Amino acid sequence: MQNFKLNDQDLLSNQDWTFPTFTAYGPGRFKEIGKFCKNFKITNPLIVIDSGSTKLPFINDLQNLLSDAKIKSKIYSNISPNPRDDEIDGGCKVFKEGNHDAIIAIGGGSAMDGGKAISLTVNSGIPLWDFEFLDKVPRDLKGTNPFPKLITIPTTAGTGAETEITAMVTDTKKGMKFCLWHPEARPCLALVDPELTLKLPANLTAWTGIDAMIHAIEGYSVPLFHPLCDGSALESLNLISKSLYLAVEEPDNLVARGGMIVGSYLGGVAFLKGLGLVHAISHMVGAEYNTHHGLTNAIILPAVMEYNLPGLEEKVKRMSEAMQFTDHSVDSFKNNLNQMLDRLKIPNGLNEIGVPEDCYERIAKKSMLDQAYGQNPKKATLDEVKELTLKSIKKAR
Ligand SMILES: NC(=O)c1ccc[n+]([C@@H]2O[C@H](COP(=O)([O-])OP(=O)(O)OC[C@H]3O[C@@H](n4cnc5c(N)ncnc54)[C@H](O)[C@@H]3O)[C@@H](O)[C@H]2O)c1
Ligand SMILES: [Fe+2]
Repeated sequence: MQNFKLNDQDLLSNQDWTFPTFTAYGPGRFKEIGKFCKNFKITNPLIVIDSGSTKLPFINDLQNLLSDAKIKSKIYSNISPNPRDDEIDGGCKVFKEGNHDAIIAIGGGSAMDGGKAISLTVNSGIPLWDFEFLDKVPRDLKGTNPFPKLITIPTTAGTGAETEITAMVTDTKKGMKFCLWHPEARPCLALVDPELTLKLPANLTAWTGIDAMIHAIEGYSVPLFHPLCDGSALESLNLISKSLYLAVEEPDNLVARGGMIVGSYLGGVAFLKGLGLVHAISHMVGAEYNTHHGLTNAIILPAVMEYNLPGLEEKVKRMSEAMQFTDHSVDSFKNNLNQMLDRLKIPNGLNEIGVPEDCYERIAKKSMLDQAYGQNPKKATLDEVKELTLKSIKKAR
């Protein structure tokens, strides 16, 4: 992966997009939050953040910007790195007690997923876990506005979670993480400002950036015809390959931060088509051991690529071209990804981040219940998932 030139002019200018949801992109757009709230007739939003973000400067800035626009707000910060159902219940309580009329979910995927999950269940009258459905969409929605207005503001790049309503939440009774969503709900605004990521530390820039890349790789590998998602996946890989090292190694490089946050946004579109075994295994590891999502994925990636890529030669060629690699063979693609993980200092095995070897059978069984398992390009048997999980724990590359 090389640092080919990014388009400075595009990445440093303001853009408004209406697909997949209304999106305001550009450095400094954050300052427009008061105006946007007024446009959407939001008067009393609940700001949802994760518990690690309370001291980050943009949270205070957000409250000041809202207050300057004469909009009152309150913060709900009880969201952990892998949001839990009891934390969503707590947020709903605060939302109702404060008579809030909207949610502003600001932060990484955890905060945005927390805010999204609260918005799904708080007014609709539908229990949280009914949004984890495989075929029957919950239709019995209460009232004319079952989902309060939702604004998503990403501060990592990232999950792409700002583009849609999907929320990953841990079911504390089952010790498993599931995807919640509803086809009629989506953010009214995604406010995507690369300046908010300038202070993201190098390790989180790398971990969240690799998560974005994996969204594009897994999404593109899903065997379905979805040209909108596939086009987004390839452009995501193009931008990430040009920006990730720069964003990690030159944290103040706003063009690279722009390339990463747009690459991540496009990755979020790409995986609306589906994901694969990296995410299926990672969700269950995250639910049990509360590991960082992007880091967990990054460690698992080589083991799953070794298993998935043979047979996907045509797709590998397109991804490899998008990433500006020179040799487009499967072996070379795997090697390039591994070199990237080395350069970004990703550990070799999950055991290095506190995941014990003896959990592999249990994690493998749970992974097969994840939606992403069924979307993987190869149907893995239980034995194969066990082997991939064990390899990811001991030595994935
Ligand atoms: N819904 C989706 O589409 C989707 C997709 C992928 C991942 N996810 C979920 O997202 C979560 C992971 O999100 P993430 O990788 O963004 O990490 P995160 O939201 O857990 O954030 C990680 C840490 O970074 C800190 N942080 C965030 N922005 C910062 C900034 N600008 N400067 C300094 N620190 C900052 C946070 O406070 C937190 O401590 C997982 O729960 C995962 O399941 C959701
Ligand atoms: Fe992810």
